[in-house]
Amino acid sequence: MSQKKLEKILQEGLQSIQKASNEVDLMMVEVRLLGRKSELSALLKGLKDLSPEEKRTLGPAMNAAKQQLTQSLAEKREQLQEADHDWEAERIDVTLPSSIGLNRKKRISGVGHQHPLTTITREIEDIFTSMGFEIADGPEVETEFYNFDALNMPADHPARDMQDTFWLQMKKESEDRFLLRTHTSPVQIRYMQTHTPPLRIIVPGRVFRNEATDTTHEHTFYQFECLMVSDDISVANFKAVGEMFFSRFFGQETTIRLRPSFFPFVEPGFEFDIACTLCHGVGCSACKQVGWIEIGGAGMVHQKVLVAAGYERDRYQGFAWGFGTPRLAMMKYHIPDGRLFQSGDLRFINQF
Ligand code: PHE
Repeated sequence: MSQKKLEKILQEGLQSIQKASNEVDLMMVEVRLLGRKSELSALLKGLKDLSPEEKRTLGPAMNAAKQQLTQSLAEKREQLQEADHDWEAERIDVTLPSSIGLNRKKRISGVGHQHPLTTITREIEDIFTSMGFEIADGPEVETEFYNFDALNMPADHPARDMQDTFWLQMKKESEDRFLLRTHTSPVQIRYMQTHTPPLRIIVPGRVFRNEATDTTHEHTFYQFECLMVSDDISVANFKAVGEMFFSRFFGQETTIRLRPSFFPFVEPGFEFDIACTLCHGVGCSACKQVGWIEIGGAGMVHQKVLVAAGYERDRYQGFAWGFGTPRLAMMKYHIPDGRLFQSGDLRFINQF
């Protein structure tokens, strides 16, 4: 055993450490150089059989060689780790605007904007408040009383079938049965219970129906109710308010048409149409050649409803309507499929 052999192990060892091209290679080199079966370990083990003279010179030299290898391994490992690490990918430029700072490859547009239905609702609210209307609100979870009974639809009334209902299951037996409101009309009752005519309100809100969906039907959708009550309200007032609203909403003179219809909470009841804003009643693809577009139900408030709200019978008259908000947005923006509004599809939403 000689100094020369030790020197050879050391030099070859340092070389193979430098040659290692990745961390796995380096680990193998380490095992070969310093592991239990390495030449160096064998030498260290044999130290005890040497003469005291040899021990004195070779012992410290072996330890020094081992230390040098260990240090060289550590340095190489650090080098490799540094090289393997993709610092560029992790770099965060804290001076960028927050919306694009975290993901440099795919720039996400961070600044949101209103949903088209919200924009339309705000516009409707603005027009009505400028006409002296108030904006009222009510719960989405309603009782059977407000959604049906008070609106002249007792339990056995066939008209209840027109509005397939999501009933809520109650844990405890309770007097009221709860449901997701099928229309915004229950807010008529809630508002009249706490206010005395003359009154005029609109109620924008979300409603729910337990039915299959297609291009014009959603199980969850938006309506806005209108209610005006005083001692001398007639169908003429109703037409005037409707025409004024739609002319302002579409920015052009808009003709309306009332067709007789039935809703238990109005008498007489109407189906409310407006002249197609594209062809003005002539007929085109947007209105399926009819010239008119159906907007929703309307009518003169039934006296039974006024009584249910706590008013004296025949003391007041009023009109009410419930229009589908998406339908108005579809017409204003020429959108062919109402399902787009709630699809969550950003390609659609980002156009607004
Ligand atoms: N609530 C009715 C519906 O959702 C619409 C309506 C409101 C009809 C007010 C008449 C008067 O279908």
